[in-house]
Amino acid sequence: MHHTDPHSFYDETQPSAKQLRLKLDVDFKTKRIEGEVVLVFGRPVSGLLDLDTNGLEIRGVQVPGTGEIAWTMDDPVAILGQRLRLDLPEATEEVTISYRTGPEAMALQWLDPQQTVGKTAPFLFSQCQQIHARTLLPCQDTPLVRMAYQAEVGVPEGLTAVMSAGPVGDEATDGGRHVFRFSMPQPIPSYLLALAVGRLESRELGPRARVWAEPETVDAAAWEFADVENMILKAEDIFGPYPWERYDMLVLPPSFPFGGMENPRMTFLTPTLLAGDRSLVDVVTHELAHSWTGNLVTNASMEHFWLNEGFTVWAERRILRTLQGDDAATLSWALGQKALEDGLAEFKDEPQLTVLRMHLEGIAPDDAFSSIPYEKGARLVAALEREVGEYKFLHFIRDYMDAFRFTSITTEQFCAFANDKLPGALAAVDAHAYLDLPGMPATAPTFRSAQLETLIALAASWSQGARPGADQSASWSPKELQVFLQKLPRQLTPADVAWLDEHLHLMNRGNHEILVEWLTLAAAADYEPAFFRIREVLQRVGRMKYLRALYSALGLHARTRALAREIFATAGAGYHGLSRRSVRSLIDGYPA
Ligand code: BES
Ligand code: ZN
Repeated sequence: MHHTDPHSFYDETQPSAKQLRLKLDVDFKTKRIEGEVVLVFGRPVSGLLDLDTNGLEIRGVQVPGTGEIAWTMDDPVAILGQRLRLDLPEATEEVTISYRTGPEAMALQWLDPQQTVGKTAPFLFSQCQQIHARTLLPCQDTPLVRMAYQAEVGVPEGLTAVMSAGPVGDEATDGGRHVFRFSMPQPIPSYLLALAVGRLESRELGPRARVWAEPETVDAAAWEFADVENMILKAEDIFGPYPWERYDMLVLPPSFPFGGMENPRMTFLTPTLLAGDRSLVDVVTHELAHSWTGNLVTNASMEHFWLNEGFTVWAERRILRTLQGDDAATLSWALGQKALEDGLAEFKDEPQLTVLRMHLEGIAPDDAFSSIPYEKGARLVAALEREVGEYKFLHFIRDYMDAFRFTSITTEQFCAFANDKLPGALAAVDAHAYLDLPGMPATAPTFRSAQLETLIALAASWSQGARPGADQSASWSPKELQVFLQKLPRQLTPADVAWLDEHLHLMNRGNHEILVEWLTLAAAADYEPAFFRIREVLQRVGRMKYLRALYSALGLHARTRALAREIFATAGAGYHGLSRRSVRSLIDGYPA
C-alpha cells in the first residue's frame, strides 16, 4: 500500500478517478442529500479501489455491464473516517455509488430560515477543505487526485443552487422541484468541490465576475466588491492569464466559518466583509490569488499546505502593493506578523507544527491549522523574491505555474524546481530553517515604514499615558486603526477601553476586524458596557477566527467566563460544526 497523504485511504497503486458525474437531491426536511456519484476512470481498470467516506450511508454500487457489485465499509478510524473498499471487475471504466449523507456531515451546514438574512427560506452550504468532502460523497479525498466534474442538483422550487463549477442550465421538474446543472471541465482536487443552495440573486461586476447573495444583501455585496476586475488584471500581471474563465463569488449567511474559501469559479465569502467601505476586500484578493496558487498548482497533502497558503498570502500583498501602494502592503505584513507571533505562541509546546514541511501522520488537519503556514510561508517566498530580485522572481513564478499547472506537488518538488531555476537561492535564504526548523529564522525579511513605526511607538507608549490626538486618529485608514489596536497592550483597564470607544468610535464599526479587535480588548478588560455588543456578535457571526478571539478573551475573568458559557449555550446550536467544536474546546479549557 502507498499512502503519500496521511489523511486519506487513497492508495497510489490503485486507479484514480479522472471525472465525477454527480446527482444530488437536497432535502431540507431530513437535512440529508440523496446522492449518486459515478467515478469515471478514463481507461479500463480492475481490482481494489479504496475510497474515503465519513458518515455516509451506502445504498449500492454498480458497474455497467456487471450490475451490482459487493462492497465493504470498514469501521471508523480516528481522523480519517471509514474506508469503502470496492473490488472492480475486469475492464471497469466507471462505477456508480448510490448513497445518502449522514446527519452530522461536517462538510455541510443546514440553516433554518431564521439563520439567514431574509428569514424566509432555508440555506445549505458546503465547506470541504481540508478533509470533509468524504462526508458529502465517497471519493478519493486527497489533493493527489484531480477530477473534472458534472453535477445535477435538485432543490425545492424558489431556491437556487451554485457550485464550484460553471452553470449549464436549469429547469423546473415535477413535484415542485428545480434542477440545476453544472460542469467543471478542469480537473480539481476533492477539497474544492462546493455547493450552496438558498434564496439567491446575483449582480454583474464585470466581464467575468458576478456576485451572488441573498436578495437583501446582494446590492451591498456588489458595491463592496465592485473593483474585482481590476484585481483580476493585477493578479494576471503576476501569474499569467486567469485559468478558470469566470471568477464569481457567493456571500454566505453569517455562520460561514471562514473569511473566504477559494472554491474555483465560485469563491465563498463571509458577510462580515461587507464593511460598507471596501476596507476588507483583501480577503477577495487572497481567494482570487488561490486561483493560481492552490487551485492551479496544489499542495500534494496538508503536509505541504504552505505551498497553497504561503504563496497566496505573498501574492495577496503583492497585488495590494500595486493597487494601494507600499504603505498599505507594509501594514498588511505587520498584521500578519502579529498573527504569526500568536500562532508561534499557541504552538510553543508543539514546535513540530511550526515548521512548513509538516509531518501529520495521526494528527487531524484542523489541529495543525494555524497562521504559521500562511505567514512563515509568505516570508519564505518574500525572502526568495528579495534574494533574486523582483524581476527574476516574477519570471520564476510564471515558470512555476507553467511547470506544475493542474498538478498537486510536494515541498520537495518545489525545492527541486527552485534549485534548478534559481540556483543557490534556497540556500542563500536558509530555506531549510523555514521548511524544517521550528520558529522563525533570524534572517527572515522584515517590513517597515515610517507610518508603521509611528503606530507601533504610539501603541507601545500607551501605558506611559500616550494617546493618539484627535486629528491624528481621524486621518487613519481602517488598516492603520487595526494595527494600532493590535499593538496595544493586551490587558487594558476598563477606563482605557472606554477612552478608546469614546475617541475612536469602535462599538458600532461595520469593519469586523476592527470591531472584534476592540471587543476582544473590552472582554479582556471585563468592560461591562461592551457585553451586549459581544453577545450580539457571538450570536450573529460564526466565523471561527472571531469566535476564537472573543471566547479566548472572555476566559480571563469569572464574570466574562459566565457570559461566554451563557452565550454559547444559546448561540452554539447555530454555529457550524467546526466552529462549535473549536469554541467548545476553548470553553472546556477555561480555569474552573
Ligand atoms: N483556504 C483557506 C480557508 C481554509 C483553510 C479552509 C483551511 C479550511 C481549511 C482560505 O483561502 C483562507 O485562507 N481564508 C482566510 C482568509 C485570509 C487569510 C485572507 C480566512 O478565512 O480567514
Ligand atoms: Zn488561503
